[in-house]
Amino acid sequence: MAWKTLDDLDLTGKRVLVRVDINVPMEDGHVTDTTRIDRIVPTVRDVLAAGGIPILMAHYGRPKGKVVPEMSLSYVVPTLSDILDQPVAFIDGDYGDRIAALQAGDIALLENLRFNPGEEANDAGFAQRLASLGDVYVNDAFSAAHRAHASTEALARLLPACAGRLMQEELSALEAALGTPERPVVAIVGGAKVSTKLDLLGNLVEKVDHLVIGGGMANTFLAAQGIGVGKSLAEHEMANTARDIIAKAKTTGCEIILPRDIVVAKEFKENAQHQTVATGACPEDQMILDAGPATVDYIKGVLKDTKTLIMNGPLGVFELAPFHKATFDVLDEIARQTKAGQLVSVAGGGDTVAAVNASGHEDDFTYISTAGGAFLEWMEGKTLPGVAALEG
Ligand code: 3PG
Ligand code: MG
Repeated sequence: MAWKTLDDLDLTGKRVLVRVDINVPMEDGHVTDTTRIDRIVPTVRDVLAAGGIPILMAHYGRPKGKVVPEMSLSYVVPTLSDILDQPVAFIDGDYGDRIAALQAGDIALLENLRFNPGEEANDAGFAQRLASLGDVYVNDAFSAAHRAHASTEALARLLPACAGRLMQEELSALEAALGTPERPVVAIVGGAKVSTKLDLLGNLVEKVDHLVIGGGMANTFLAAQGIGVGKSLAEHEMANTARDIIAKAKTTGCEIILPRDIVVAKEFKENAQHQTVATGACPEDQMILDAGPATVDYIKGVLKDTKTLIMNGPLGVFELAPFHKATFDVLDEIARQTKAGQLVSVAGGGDTVAAVNASGHEDDFTYISTAGGAFLEWMEGKTLPGVAALEG
């Protein structure tokens, strides 16, 4: 890899500015999912073990350059201290003096960087000010690496810089899944809209052997081929684009897998009365809420010989039982093959991780990314500014 790691820098007695992503879900001032905090622990521990003082820097929400008290990172401090098993000094306002007072063994967290307009503007002056607080820079925020902000981009060019453990892990997993994967490779892409995942589909048909399209996106592809989808969610204005993707897949030899049978209902709600019909037989007054068992069997058949799988998006409306069935059945199979050592499986994106967690398979993938937007942009083949800056 073109970037340095914590092993390449001397951290003894250094103030180590560590960009982390602890943009965690919260309710009433309490963290409701600690995953992103759990995943930065190895980096913080390794900085401490190497004799450095970790000064954590992060954003929370989108305050747009203003102080928004509800978006203060102070709310995260109790959970962060719990997980790191020691007090964390929270530093806002005039950072300078508080930073100077830090001792070996301390951990500090700066207030939400996005309270300053210089952060999102990737402002050189703001980056300079951050750089003046430390000796070394570590980026452990893969999930914010698609943003060219002062703390993810400009700052990396001002100090000796390296990737943290989580950043390393994320990049290695993605490289194994799409960079130099063992073939055949299957991608499963789902979600509501083709329009938000166009670049992704375009890139994937060049890289993978089989592309499974699920969810609302699949309806758009079916409709584009003249197949009736009733009242289903579908972007009919994307028909040409969908046909272009199908044509491109033919030239690259990528098999596009669409639903072969569908579960349809009149209402979009939990336990709505439903039936399974062949694709093409969706009644005019009904909508497609899941893929059917024949589709699941076909996907399982393809997975038998698959060596690498990357997943971004569910196959149906997994939030509403029983329309989770196709997604969960396929996840069961992915989990089984991964545990048997037959498959490298990588998943990422908010919806996808929610589906994996709901299915109980959160420990059964080879790797689950903490990233949403950054995972998607990486899968699209885009350069992530936060990673590029580390490469120097
Ligand atoms: C995320 O939660 O996706 C990252 O923290 C990035 O946040 P952003 O989309 O507000 O830049
Ligand atoms: Mg986001």
